Amino acid sequence: MMAAQGFRVAIDGPSGAGKSTIAKILANELGIDYIDTGAMYRAIALKMLENGIDIDADPAVLGEMLAHTDVDFAQGKTLLDGVDVSDRIRTAAVTDMASKSSALPQVREKLVVLQRAMGEKKAVIMDGRDIGTNVFPSAEVKFFMTASPEERASRRWAEMKEKDPTVSFEAVLAAIEERDYNDSHRALNPLTKADDAIEIDTDGLDIESVTAILRARIESA
Ligand code: DC
Repeated sequence: MMAAQGFRVAIDGPSGAGKSTIAKILANELGIDYIDTGAMYRAIALKMLENGIDIDADPAVLGEMLAHTDVDFAQGKTLLDGVDVSDRIRTAAVTDMASKSSALPQVREKLVVLQRAMGEKKAVIMDGRDIGTNVFPSAEVKFFMTASPEERASRRWAEMKEKDPTVSFEAVLAAIEERDYNDSHRALNPLTKADDAIEIDTDGLDIESVTAILRARIESA
């Protein structure tokens, strides 16, 4: 039943709430595909940066680029026009650009079409900001995962310190707050909880406990 075609689990929430960590574990356990929609917005942002297309560029120029852009996943890798960009989409420059370019209607329209097609072919767990509200309003199970900005920043900081010991907690918190603001204040499909989404506040919970809560709700669906 779980791997049935068209079974869709939507996980929305702000950045750093742990959505992708939990979604990957569950997708593995259930044997279904994990679709990281944030990675798709990041791939478009990378291509815009590489082509010198800014967020206030001529819509015709952006439209031309998007018409010749493909974003897909294979073996857990993010493919931009067939090329693995999994590492290149995780830089600070791409993070910043994605936070802004994801507000552009042309970008959202392009990616939502691709996302819906991915969820029609197979059973999926999809995470992002507008999955339960916009991409799949009729998803079989919807979650809204949150955590306080301080908790999200301290998790992110712990990860980042391994690569760069000079990074400060305050800088990480400020970046999270800026992204929260951009995500929830854009005109088109801002981050909001769907009325029928199950809200999970992960403050103080470890990965196993959060996974167990979601697993139980998916199994009962
Ligand atoms: O989840 P993430 O940080 O990788 O997402 C990158 C950016 O894309 C982030 O600024 C929010 C945006 N995004 C979005 O607008 N809609 C989605 N469904 C997923 C991500």
